[in-house]
Amino acid sequence: MNDIQILGSLPLYGEQRVQGSKNAVLPMMAASLLHKGTTVLENVPQIEDVSCMVRILEKLGASIQRDGHRMEIDAANLDSCEISLDYVRKMRSSIMVLGPLLARLGQAVTYYPGGCSIGKRPVDYHVKLLRDLGIAVEEKDGRIEARAGRYEGTQLWLAFPSVGATENAIMAAVGAQGETVIRGCAREPEIVELCLFLAGMGIETVGAGTDTIRVRGQESGKSPVYRVCGDRIAAGTYLAAAAVTGGEICLNDAPTAYMKTILEVLCACGCQVMAEGSRISLKAPARLRAVPYLETAVYPGFPTDMQSIFLALLCLARGNSVIQENIFEGRFETAAELNRMGAKVRVEGRKAHITGVQSLKGAEVTARDLRGGAALVVAGLAAQGTTTIHDCEHVYRGYEEIVKDLQSLGARIEKH
Ligand code: UD1
Repeated sequence: MNDIQILGSLPLYGEQRVQGSKNAVLPMMAASLLHKGTTVLENVPQIEDVSCMVRILEKLGASIQRDGHRMEIDAANLDSCEISLDYVRKMRSSIMVLGPLLARLGQAVTYYPGGCSIGKRPVDYHVKLLRDLGIAVEEKDGRIEARAGRYEGTQLWLAFPSVGATENAIMAAVGAQGETVIRGCAREPEIVELCLFLAGMGIETVGAGTDTIRVRGQESGKSPVYRVCGDRIAAGTYLAAAAVTGGEICLNDAPTAYMKTILEVLCACGCQVMAEGSRISLKAPARLRAVPYLETAVYPGFPTDMQSIFLALLCLARGNSVIQENIFEGRFETAAELNRMGAKVRVEGRKAHITGVQSLKGAEVTARDLRGGAALVVAGLAAQGTTTIHDCEHVYRGYEEIVKDLQSLGARIEKH
């Protein structure tokens, strides 16, 4: 059942709920290890990456109950500090468990994730920040072993505003004595959400959403109950799907405040977009307009996770567009698949030059990564004829019900 088949060219119409955010919930699940008790998360997306994080936490000794979108994590008794290589291979963000494990148990063992199809994805920033906190980290044959005695709060600097490294540093700093000041932080919404979640645990931080975050080392005093915000990338994917098919949709539970740049680009393409509270409505134009230059950047810039999806969208826009990928070096693999569908994309290093075409045609294509797979779904919805996308396990890592959701918006799409 890892193929998706789409009979394209049907405009999407209707209303759809946006799933909970993958990138917000994963660090919260990791952070639940900081609390010697129960954590409740609501609006948890039912996706493969969440299931993988559940297995990681269970291996460490936590017990987890899931009931639909509600998850209860009891981390009162942890009995292991090792994340096995299998899980690290499945999900690179397993590295996020390092910080909370060190704060809670003073020890953590994990492995190098290795490269993936979107680029090298090293973890050197994570390791450096832990060392700068006074934690001993040994790296040998792909194994990372970290041991913390009593460590003092200090000043930390990120050479680049990495999302995961910022999150790891915040969680590790909870275990320090006194205050840690982290400078050069990523400002992504998921970091703001993590800090709001930590506040529910009684852990105060100051500055989330800016480049300087202060964390006072402390024990968690409260059992948090937290509702995960909507997924800005899933929301952007559905809006792009409506835009390329000439449709008109309305999304509920969307994190509109976190989506300004994405919505601006959709407007620049000629879509009529209205955002009010947690609702976004989009009406596509008769023909999308090209965007002369679009570059990915750290928040509040255009997110790299939306890049492949907008690559697909701009293939159908009138005129020439250029997308520059500044975050991950290898994130244009989907271009070749789109070209099989009749797109005209030429990749030169970190730039994709796109000449918009009137229509795409259905083809057999392969999902290379999560967002690249979603981009092919978007392209397939607009294409004439049938598109079969292989290896869609990548897509299910991040989208809860992409097939059902699109069906309910009128798409002819099926799992195979
Ligand atoms: C998170 C998101 C991912 C998103 C990315 C950038 C999660 C679970 N994943 O990933 O969906 O695409 O942010 O918005 O939240 N880097 C290093 N060394 C490190 C860490 C990162 O060189 O130790 C580099 C990466 O290779 C990349 C850049 O820094 O080029 C940004 O990566 P980072 O922000 O860390 O991404 P993630 O946290 O892994």
